[in-house]
Amino acid sequence: MERFEIAVIPGDGIGNEVMPEALRVLEAAGSRYGVEFAFREFDWSCERYKRTGRMMPEDGIEQLRGHDAILLGAVGYPGVPDHVSLWGLLIPIRREFDQYVNLRPVRLLPGLTPPVRDVSPGDIDFWVVRENSEGEYSMLGGRQGEGTPGEMVMQASVFTRRGTDRILRYAFEFARRNRRSLVTSATKSNGIYHSMPYWDERFRAIAEEYPDLSAEQEHIDILTAKFVLRPRHFDVVVGSNLFGDILSDLGPGVTGTIGVAPSANIDPERRHPSMFEPVHGSAPDIAGRGVANPVGQIWSAAMMLDHLGAPEAGAGVLAAVESVLASTAAPLTPDLGGTARTGDLGGAIAAAVADG
Ligand code: NAI
Ligand code: MG
Repeated sequence: MERFEIAVIPGDGIGNEVMPEALRVLEAAGSRYGVEFAFREFDWSCERYKRTGRMMPEDGIEQLRGHDAILLGAVGYPGVPDHVSLWGLLIPIRREFDQYVNLRPVRLLPGLTPPVRDVSPGDIDFWVVRENSEGEYSMLGGRQGEGTPGEMVMQASVFTRRGTDRILRYAFEFARRNRRSLVTSATKSNGIYHSMPYWDERFRAIAEEYPDLSAEQEHIDILTAKFVLRPRHFDVVVGSNLFGDILSDLGPGVTGTIGVAPSANIDPERRHPSMFEPVHGSAPDIAGRGVANPVGQIWSAAMMLDHLGAPEAGAGVLAAVESVLASTAAPLTPDLGGTARTGDLGGAIAAAVADG
């Protein structure tokens, strides 16, 4: 039997409520599909920061290194500035392990009530491929003249040839592998003078390597409108760190809730563990009430199974999610219009996996 060592970081807020549901579903998938897991839990979080001054211990990256994958809930909580929690845990993991692809499916699942008209499951089904290692999320820059009328800040974006080419190429390879025909690039080369024209130039160059696929580019402003007006149009959308981040909340928003959206932070070369986490954050507004939707975390676990080389188990989990949400007696959480609790929905999915 295959055995995987998984680092589990529930994090903050609802991360602690949705993680147990994902672990319960993974256990069910393990028994059903013959996969074994050793879960090792880490309490790295804002709470830990308040206690110790660090989100994770100094050797945190080393502690994670030996695992087959990392399953993360969410980090960030009122009382700790968001840039501290993000740069103290999530971003170091993404960068130290060179998880340069952030892959996020956008799919209208059954049982969701999308805020846009005339779409049904099957109509919205595309992928956002987000650059995850450089771009606009950088520590380069500074502040001077603090507190004076001349106060100024500068923040630099970084687009390397290596970083740009590898994410664009991944998007085309991913499209080909998944039999998708269209790759859309998010740009803003009309307003941003250096980096985005460069991004466009590399996109055209890489697109030439894939004559079997269609390529198009859209400025980020009109692209956001098209996500709402023509969500059926897209197959694979590739964007920089910032644009990909925005698009991958907007996409699930168009399907009705971000509570179901998963993401994978991948090192495609498999030199390091990859990390799987829901798109949503710690949701302090509902944390502690037991009403968070666990599907984003569970679907992230399904993506982890795919990555680990257990695609049958991954597909089984996703099929269970879809069948539970489609059933008339589905225990829906409040974000889906129901009154069920986190554990009701998670339990129903785990049971469906076991029966699958
Ligand atoms: P958020 O995703 O936590 O919440 C946005 C809205 O969506 C809230 O109204 C929340 O109740 C709702 N929501 C989110 N997940 C849900 C779920 N599973 N079920 C039902 N409703 C759900 O984003 P927000 O409010 O901007 O950030 C809160 C904290 O989370 C901040 O500290 C932020 O930095 C952090 N954050 C962390 C992320 C991560 O760990 N990857 C990603 C985004 C935000
Ligand atoms: Mg985000």
